[in-house]
Amino acid sequence: MSEPSPAVESGPQPHPGNPPQKIAIIAGDGIGKDVTAEAVKVLDAAAERWSLPLELVHLPWDADRYLETGETLPEGALEDFRDHYAAIFIGAYGDPRVPDMKHAADILLGIRFGLDLYVNFRPVTLYDTRLCPLKGKSEADVDFVVFRENTEGAYVGIGGIFKRGTADEVAVQEEINTRKGVERILRAAFEYAAAHGRREVCMVDKSNVLRHGHDLWQRAFAEVGEEFPGIDRRHLYVDAAAMQMVRKPETFDVVVANNMFGDILTDLGAALQGGLGLAASANLHPGRTSMFEPVHGSAPKYAGTGRANPMGALVTAALMLENLGHAEAAAAIEDAVRELIHHDRTTPDLGGSLTTAEVGDAVADQLTAAVHHG
Ligand code: NAD
Ligand code: IPM
Ligand code: MN
Repeated sequence: MSEPSPAVESGPQPHPGNPPQKIAIIAGDGIGKDVTAEAVKVLDAAAERWSLPLELVHLPWDADRYLETGETLPEGALEDFRDHYAAIFIGAYGDPRVPDMKHAADILLGIRFGLDLYVNFRPVTLYDTRLCPLKGKSEADVDFVVFRENTEGAYVGIGGIFKRGTADEVAVQEEINTRKGVERILRAAFEYAAAHGRREVCMVDKSNVLRHGHDLWQRAFAEVGEEFPGIDRRHLYVDAAAMQMVRKPETFDVVVANNMFGDILTDLGAALQGGLGLAASANLHPGRTSMFEPVHGSAPKYAGTGRANPMGALVTAALMLENLGHAEAAAAIEDAVRELIHHDRTTPDLGGSLTTAEVGDAVADQLTAAVHHG
C-alpha cells in the first residue's frame, strides 16, 4: 500500500487499495456475531451484483477465544491490516465473563489507536419520521454528522491507582489533548462540511471547567475555522449540546467533539434515529486502512435470539463500500434499509416482527433482484 496521501477530504471517501480488496471481518461478541452475519450476507450479495473484488477474511477474535487462549490482538495484526487490507468490519465487543473488557480494549481500541484512525465518523440520519422519539420532527430535522476524536482524550488509559483498596485510595485518569490531535479532527470536520455543502461546524466541549485541555480546543477551533471562511462556527458546552440535540436537532449540521463527549452524544444521536440498532460509524484515517462498526454494543441479552436489529451493521457495511469506492452498492444497501423501514419490515426494536436474519435476507434479496430487473 502506498504512503497515505494528505487528507483533502474527510469522512468516507474512496480508499480502493489494490484488488482484491481484502476485508477483515471481526464479528466479536454477543449480537456482534448476529449482525455481522447479516452484514456478510449483504456484502456477498453486493459483491455478486456489482462484481466487487471483495475478499472477506473472517477473524474469530471473540471472548471465548480470549478466555481459552489469553490472546487478544495477535502479534503483527496491525501491520497486516495496514499493509494488506482495504478495510476492517467489526461487529461489537463485550462479554459478561470479561468485566474489564480486556479483549475489547486490546482489539477495538487497539485498532483505533494502533492504525491511528483519528476520525470516528458517525452520521445521525432519520430514515423514517415515525422512528424519531421526538414530537413533530421530520427526516430533514434529524440529519447531522458527528466527528468524534478517536485517538486521545480520556481513552488513552493514562493514570493509576494509589493506595488501592484503602480508605486513602487515589484514582487518577488523565485526559490527553494534543495540538496535533485536536487540529486534525477539527480540520476533518471543516473539510467534510466544505465538501458536502454543510453550512456549520459546531464544536462541543467543556471549556468552562476543563480550563487547560479544552482551552486548546477553543483556540484551535478559531484558528482552523479561519481556514474555512464559508463555514459558520458554533460552540456549545456539552451539557447544553445534549439538551439542544433533544430540543432542536434541526440546528445541528456537523458536530465535532472529543473522544468521550463524541461517544456519549452519538448514543443520543442513535436514539434520535430510532435506536442504537440503526446507527453506523466509520473509524477513519483518510487514505489508510479504516475500520467500520455499528455504534451499538454486544447487547448480551439479545445474543442469538434473532431480535438484534442488523440495520446499523448493514448501513455500516454501506459506509465501508462507499469508502472502498463502491458508491452504487452502498447507496443500494441504504435504500433497501430505508425501504424495509417504510414498510414496517423490521426487528422488534423498531416495532416489526422480523428476525435478524430475515432483515438481512430481505436486503440481500433486494440487491440480487436488481440483477434481474435492473
Ligand atoms: P448495547 O449497545 O450493547 O445495548 C444497549 C441496549 O440497546 C440493548 O440492551 C438493546 O436494548 C439496545 N440495542 C443495542 N443494539 C441493538 C440492536 N442491534 N438491535 C436491537 N437493540 C439494540 O450497550 P450496553 O448494554 O451498554 O453494553 C453491552 C456491552 O457492549 C458492554 O460490554 C459494553 O461495554 C459493550 N459495548 C461495545 C461496543 C462496541 O464494541 N463498539 C459499543 C458499546 C458497548
Ligand atoms: C463505542 C463504544 C466503545 C467506546 C467502547 C466499547 C470502548 O462505546 O464504540 O461507542 O467507548 O468507544
Ligand atoms: Mn459508545
